Amino acid sequence: MLKFVVSLINTKSDCRLEVLGIDIGGTGIKGAPVIIESGHLSAERFRIPTPEGGYPKDVAKTVRKVVKHFSWKGKIGISLPLRIRNGVACTAANIDHSWIGLDVGHLFSDALNAQVATLNDADAAGYAEVQYGAGKGSMGKTLVLTLGTGIGSSLFMNSVLVPNLELGHLQMSGSTAEILAANSARKRDHLSWEAWAERVQDYLTYIEFLLDPDLIILGGGISRPKRTKNYFHLLKTRAQLLPAHFQNEAGIIGAACAAYSEP
Ligand code: BGC
Repeated sequence: MLKFVVSLINTKSDCRLEVLGIDIGGTGIKGAPVIIESGHLSAERFRIPTPEGGYPKDVAKTVRKVVKHFSWKGKIGISLPLRIRNGVACTAANIDHSWIGLDVGHLFSDALNAQVATLNDADAAGYAEVQYGAGKGSMGKTLVLTLGTGIGSSLFMNSVLVPNLELGHLQMSGSTAEILAANSARKRDHLSWEAWAERVQDYLTYIEFLLDPDLIILGGGISRPKRTKNYFHLLKTRAQLLPAHFQNEAGIIGAACAAYSEP
């Protein structure tokens, strides 16, 4: 388990600690250098569409372009929609299945000739929230759920990650949670905000029964204020419920943090 040590960093204003964070998704590959002390991006985010099919070699080539864009030399953190154990992908959802069994750590460190840390995209988003965002300093059980194409999940106990949960794949009503309640389901089924919120509510009730978290943070594009005003008031949880602080940058920031924390 990784634990953040950012508070122990010697923060000299003349030697800023920066790590390049890259977030690989089904539609886009986004990157930016992240200032570790604050979680801010030190340059504008750079995005390239994910190559057709999302095959590993093509993705690695595209990631190389992102690294080149920033002329980056140094540590790199990469988040992907995969369960990754010791650098090896064990599951792949919403991305090509040829990733399964692949040593993604080696794939990227070879392709980029750099020290690379890889992790699940929801774990990365959770890191960003717990370190700098809506869950900053949270104690107890914090659950971060990202509602996008799929549902990503990350759980923290006293700000320490319990990695690789896949709570978007819980069985619900003869289907799976992410097929029913991800933001993609809202769009696919042309649901009103109210109808979608009902599905999210069922999911949250189930999750609370299973995990009993103290704080739940909802992330992804639906955590923007112009979106939350449509549905947040419809959701009822025992746990404190908050929208994520970061939206599309959470994966980048968390990936950079994870890479920083690795020896
Ligand atoms: C994947 C997760 C990922 C989530 C968000 C799910 O389908 O199984 O690993 O975190 O989508 O991208």
